[in-house]
Amino acid sequence: MSSFEDVFGTTPDGSWRAPGRVNLIGEHTDYNDGLVLPIALPNRILVTASKRDDGRIRVASTGHRGVIQFAVDELGPGSVGDWAAYPAGAAWILRESGYAIGGANLLVDSDLPSGAGLSSSAALLCATSVALLGLRDIDVDPGEVARLAQRAENQYVGAPVGLMDQMASMCCTAGHALYFDIRAMSTEQIPFDPAADDLALLVVDVKAPHRHVDGEYAARRKSCEQAAAELGVPALRSIAFEELAAALDRLPDDVVRRRVRHVVTEIRRVEDAVALMHAGRLRDVGPLFTASHASLRDDFEITVPELDVAVDTALAAGALGARMTGGGFGGCIIALTEAGTADSVLAAIEKAFAEHGFNTPNALAATPSAGASRVG
Ligand code: GLA
Repeated sequence: MSSFEDVFGTTPDGSWRAPGRVNLIGEHTDYNDGLVLPIALPNRILVTASKRDDGRIRVASTGHRGVIQFAVDELGPGSVGDWAAYPAGAAWILRESGYAIGGANLLVDSDLPSGAGLSSSAALLCATSVALLGLRDIDVDPGEVARLAQRAENQYVGAPVGLMDQMASMCCTAGHALYFDIRAMSTEQIPFDPAADDLALLVVDVKAPHRHVDGEYAARRKSCEQAAAELGVPALRSIAFEELAAALDRLPDDVVRRRVRHVVTEIRRVEDAVALMHAGRLRDVGPLFTASHASLRDDFEITVPELDVAVDTALAAGALGARMTGGGFGGCIIALTEAGTADSVLAAIEKAFAEHGFNTPNALAATPSAGASRVG
């Protein structure tokens, strides 16, 4: 691996990190003004940086060849492609927002698997943003950085994502899940320490091949927005759980009805999960995970066989609950298990995957970790 000095011929001024995430529950509710409950992972994107005085950004990555460069003043949506679209998008939105970020040399390093549904895109946007701001000692509220990173992903990269991943990357704290109410724009840190209850949270990347994730995500979002319009509400969050049956009666299309049912019941499951966590009843959260997975599989239709087999196998091997996490169509599952059975649950998933001829799955440490920070 080349050092910063080798690539840029100068010494760095600092390093900034931003983590990936898994969401415990509340999937596909963020763009419906709903509720989510992510934790940050120990895995992160690290950006090492030095200032430049010529208004240009030069960016390299330990995972890709070459150095990409652009003038901050000349950036416009989509002007830089491929992986460097994310650092370029961060620079673009900061410039658009009036922050005097100047130029910079940036070296990107990652131990966060990309394409595994762990939100490496948001982590890259957030890490670049905090590096560009940190280099110039510009202090911006972490929630505001998250909102800017989302705008960069929406408007520069062109992906219609919600605000969960960026908020998790910026605002999570170690030992906690982040209870984020998107409509209220409020957050609460919920203590989350499965080990203290003799439990374990297993995260398994099912390594499913990429299957049209972006188009499917945009389609789900569109049908939720159309349903909200048909129901005359600004977002599906406005449909209370108690009003669900009446709302469904007003929707003629069966597919749309099922999309709405997922969102409204999932928001309810987040509220239930948080109440159980506050009451110290972590084991009882397991069945909510399992119900969430069934809803994502049957109503929202974003699971793939690998995710379903992993969840079913985890449950058959004694997990208290299991679900897919993230955008769907691949990525990871999470399973809540007794601490002593995590290994056997993982072994059962590996065996089932071998029998199905699936790729070998990859387990990750799910220690709830801190959000973005300066590290050097
Ligand atoms: C992706 C998006 C998030 C969220 C999840 C699903 O990670 O980036 O905004 O919608 O999918 O919960």
